Amino acid sequence: MIKAVRGTRDLLPPDTALWNFVENTARDVFRVYNFQEIRTPIFEETQLFARSVGEETDIVSKEMFTWEDRGRAASEKGESLTLRPENTAGTVRAYIEHKLWERPGVQKLYYIGPQFRRERPQKGRYRQFYQIGAEIIGPPSAGSESPLRDAELLEMLATLLDRLGIRNWTLELNSVGCANDRKTYDEALRKALEPVKARMCADCQRRAVTNPLRVFDCKVPEDQPIIEKLPRISQYLDEPCREHFAAVQEILKSVGVPFVLNDRLVRGLDYYTRTAFEFTHGALGAQNAILGGGRYDGLSEALGGPQAPGIGFAIGEDRVVLALQEVAGSLARPADVYIAPMGAGTNREAARLARELRQAGIVVDLGDESFRLKKSLETASKLGARFALIVGENEVQSDVFALKHLASGQQQSVPRSELAGRIKSGEQK
Ligand code: HAM
Repeated sequence: MIKAVRGTRDLLPPDTALWNFVENTARDVFRVYNFQEIRTPIFEETQLFARSVGEETDIVSKEMFTWEDRGRAASEKGESLTLRPENTAGTVRAYIEHKLWERPGVQKLYYIGPQFRRERPQKGRYRQFYQIGAEIIGPPSAGSESPLRDAELLEMLATLLDRLGIRNWTLELNSVGCANDRKTYDEALRKALEPVKARMCADCQRRAVTNPLRVFDCKVPEDQPIIEKLPRISQYLDEPCREHFAAVQEILKSVGVPFVLNDRLVRGLDYYTRTAFEFTHGALGAQNAILGGGRYDGLSEALGGPQAPGIGFAIGEDRVVLALQEVAGSLARPADVYIAPMGAGTNREAARLARELRQAGIVVDLGDESFRLKKSLETASKLGARFALIVGENEVQSDVFALKHLASGQQQSVPRSELAGRIKSGEQK
């Protein structure tokens, strides 16, 4: 038997109702904050991720699904392509490619879609997973650098999580500084790592030389006491970065969004500058980051674009659904009515009735004229329908139908013109 590939999964009803609820709520919230949707391709040139997310990150060095795409003609060169592991790089590429900076103001874009990382699958961690993300990006003259953008985005996230019914989240906040601070901090880190790196894992020994900040991504338990003692970026912020970070915190306090500072939080992607954040949720166990994001003021330039500071986030939709399942269970809406045609020739009338009721917004399921009444009523009950509507020869002739309320067993004769109203009002009168 052929099964879904490890780390991928089918999303089935009734869970899909929860997924749609999450996506619809996100779209509603994005609408009010004036974000618009962008859809970028699911695969891109490998270079895009190497240059933005960073060669030395776990994502690029270990987790990407990359392949050599052969040229179609023998003379054509092949190219290295990669399934997107995240969507910020693609969004910024599109911003540059379509000169979106020529549009007025800052661009406020959101996306919903699958991402791919070859991680070890476990609860809350998949190889194909789904993100709901958003980016604010634009020229500095449009206000893209303002701490108000950071605070606005974080406040929107607090609102969205509340609207989804996810409580008990924690917003962890840090500033990872700018290119300026990073240089002095990198040197300080290298120096601090020099005498201890021999005791660390192979990955950290390499990171200590190539990209010391990434040491903070290490999950090896034995390395943690060493990492705990390393200097923190918060001690190396220059004055403008310090002020920016303070301003973000002040606005958050004024709008009443609670946060905690975590100066170990450096996020696992290289493009971040200044504000970096994660929302965590207790119910999720080891994979407790429900979403993450931050500023990336130099990313556009690193990809050959104009100066375009930006900030964004991505929510792990799989994890949001897991958290919701803990509280909500299922949101699936069963059918309002199951139509049971009875006897040869009644399918036609049943189909007409189904069409009329559906046009009135009623959720209808339909049997078949070959079913016995008992089978139809059993099916209707199993489906969780509230009513069964019996369409036999007599009913077709009189245009009055037997409507059975399944929970109480009560049955009434209802003229065709009153059916929709009776079903909508819910209970049998
Ligand atoms: P990220 O932290 O790599 O950031 O991913 C964001 C969220 O995606 C995580 O907090 C987690 O909820 C979810 N996620 C990541 N990997 C998996 C996985 N294997 N299985 C299930 N869920 C997962 C980014 O991707 C950045 N692009 C966010 C961003 C946007 N920064 C600025 N703009």
